Amino acid sequence: MSVRNIHPIALDIIQKEHEHLSAVLQGMLHFVREIQSGNDRQDLKLLRAMLYYINEYPERVHHPKEDQILFAKIKERTHQLDNELDAVSEQHGKGELLAHRLQDALLRYEFGGQEAFAHLHTLVEQYAHFYFAHMRAEEERILPVAKQVLNDADWKVVDAAFVENQNNLDKTGQRYKYDLLFAQICSVAPI
Ligand SMILES: [Fe+2]
Ligand SMILES: [Fe+2]
Repeated sequence: MSVRNIHPIALDIIQKEHEHLSAVLQGMLHFVREIQSGNDRQDLKLLRAMLYYINEYPERVHHPKEDQILFAKIKERTHQLDNELDAVSEQHGKGELLAHRLQDALLRYEFGGQEAFAHLHTLVEQYAHFYFAHMRAEEERILPVAKQVLNDADWKVVDAAFVENQNNLDKTGQRYKYDLLFAQICSVAPI
């Protein structure tokens, strides 16, 4: 086991991003469950905004950092998680596919009407379940091992990559855009 003297900022960043993603997923579940229970005066723009956030943020920011930086570093230090790391990386691709199916189902509901709702509802429930399980696997199986096997020098490399990534997002204004979108979603959704 490695001795660690620093608190990795990369873990804080991942945790915060998981919290935001969880909040948006809860919002999506609430949205479709409200319609299911008869309250169909929901503004579909809100569900579109949630999907947009989920589509953009994990795919462009969150997953690449996990795959290319943290998971790669863990694999350098141990093979005990090889199968699990391959599985969660595969889920990143699957999540992208499910999100696109969800977008398609939303369009069908928007333009096809009530009869398309059941499919949308099912997909949202499936997607949220899938995503919660994915984040749980990372938090409960992968991050604890990362804390054990990566040493201070490893974390410096990982932290630097995560911070550089954030700085790049700041430079292009993307982080502001995502934070603003998240704040807008929170301001109207009960999350
Ligand atoms: Fe992930
Ligand atoms: Fe993650």
